Amino acid sequence: MVAPSFEPPVRVFPDTGALMRAAAEQVVELAALAIASRRRFTWVLSGGSTPRQLYALLATRSYASRIDWARVCFFWGDERHVPPDHPDSNYDMAREALLTPIGALASNVHRMRGELPPVAAAALYEAELRSFFAQSEAARAPAFDLVLLGMGDDGHTASLFPGTPALLENERWVIASDGGEARGERVSLTPVIMNAARQISFLVAGASKAARLSQVLRSNAEAKGSLGEAPPELLPVQYIRPVNGDLIWLLDAAAAGL
Ligand code: 6PG
Repeated sequence: MVAPSFEPPVRVFPDTGALMRAAAEQVVELAALAIASRRRFTWVLSGGSTPRQLYALLATRSYASRIDWARVCFFWGDERHVPPDHPDSNYDMAREALLTPIGALASNVHRMRGELPPVAAAALYEAELRSFFAQSEAARAPAFDLVLLGMGDDGHTASLFPGTPALLENERWVIASDGGEARGERVSLTPVIMNAARQISFLVAGASKAARLSQVLRSNAEAKGSLGEAPPELLPVQYIRPVNGDLIWLLDAAAAGL
């Protein structure tokens, strides 16, 4: 089967500050919509320095007061194999920048257990997601309201790395992933569950991302072939294609420079 080319919308902001404000507005809007229609907002957080700036902005009074945080359920797209208070922990970063300042309810915080061996942590997280969404083994992947993602300089996203088998996973929602010597062992959501989301937003800032981004966006526009038949040279970010939801790239001018 040949899928149509995939050209998600791209919005470019003059600087990182404007990018963060636009991303924060998107979170405010999506949270209000989800809470009005489903009584809760399910949000998958990302690690990395770019989302950290968004979390810090959302924790300021002018944004924090516009979200009904008691109805926001937090999940993670990936985690490193470290304890939850480790400086490399994605949970710890979000806790410090957002969860503590806004007073998130512990019962709404669904972290990956980075302290466990990644295979066990992945199985546990998948069980937690199935229980949260009340879906049995056989049920198809549930739709998160928002999956927020970053892109690494090598085209990785969450902890899905180039050329790794996790990219071709078509059943499991959570896997143990090997980032090699540089990135170590990780736990990551798979494209199976991320692609079921209502909204996927890539947040990318900085000139170091420009070359990879231009490669990704150009070849997205030329892409041929369905997800299942994806050629191995596709980058991890290119495996992120929502089934029914929307995807947007939010960029600053430096990242979009090429
Ligand atoms: C992680 C991530 C990862 C990140 C990108 C972009 O924990 O490392 O979740 O996928 O989002 O590497 O990170 P920066 O925003 O720091 O460039």
